[in-house]
Amino acid sequence: MIPPLVLDPKKDETILDTCAAPGSKTTQMAEMMQNTGLIIANDSNMSRIKALRYNLDKSGIINTIVTRMDAAKLNKAHIQFDKILLDAPCSAEGTIRKDWKVLSRWSETLIHSLSRLQKHITTNAIHALKPGGTLVYSTCTLAPEENEEVITNLIDKIKGLTVEKISLNGLKTRPGIEEWQDRQYSEQVKNCARIYPQDNDSEGFFICKIKKNLK
Ligand SMILES: C[S@@+](CC[C@H](N)C(=O)[O-])C[C@H]1O[C@@H](n2cnc3c(N)ncnc32)[C@H](O)[C@@H]1O
Repeated sequence: MIPPLVLDPKKDETILDTCAAPGSKTTQMAEMMQNTGLIIANDSNMSRIKALRYNLDKSGIINTIVTRMDAAKLNKAHIQFDKILLDAPCSAEGTIRKDWKVLSRWSETLIHSLSRLQKHITTNAIHALKPGGTLVYSTCTLAPEENEEVITNLIDKIKGLTVEKISLNGLKTRPGIEEWQDRQYSEQVKNCARIYPQDNDSEGFFICKIKKNLK
């Protein structure tokens, strides 16, 4: 999957996976780290945490600790990580082609309430990132309210963040959109990557790589 490739966790680093269950990206990162360093794999949903635990055990992962917390409170843990993966809960518009049930749950109200949650999680989780560290924000939805709007909110509220350009070999991506309906987003969001199903015969996806500047 793309978010771990963009985050690029290395051997012996400390990684926070804020919304980890069922763990497809956690196991990929542990493999990239050759089972060294430390991953805190967090999620708030107990039944999904069971699946996460099962997948970690099945894959022989020994560098990962599982926690159950509201990701918006992770800043209270008073530790900072080299890198953070924030694979956010979202309206999953990008998965409709494989699961029509997603459409039956879709509404503008859902998008706005998820956008509020995503803003809350991102503005708190960023405090758990070391200066000089990298946070990757991703969703499997195309709604700008859950993507560029969340990133704009984060970089407006927390100073000293830079959105870095993403390049993915062999994959067609499009830049983040700077304007949606009556809203203008930060110029920096053009460095985010939008992946459309029609471009790569894939799911729809959004990825943003944020660097926390050294003091
Ligand atoms: C897109 S899924 C994560 C998928 C996972 N990263 C993977 O690759 O397998 C989003 C996850 O966020 C979790 N979640 C929702 N609200 C949360 C919160 N406030 N704090 C932590 N996790 C939350 C959900 O339980 C769900 O497992």
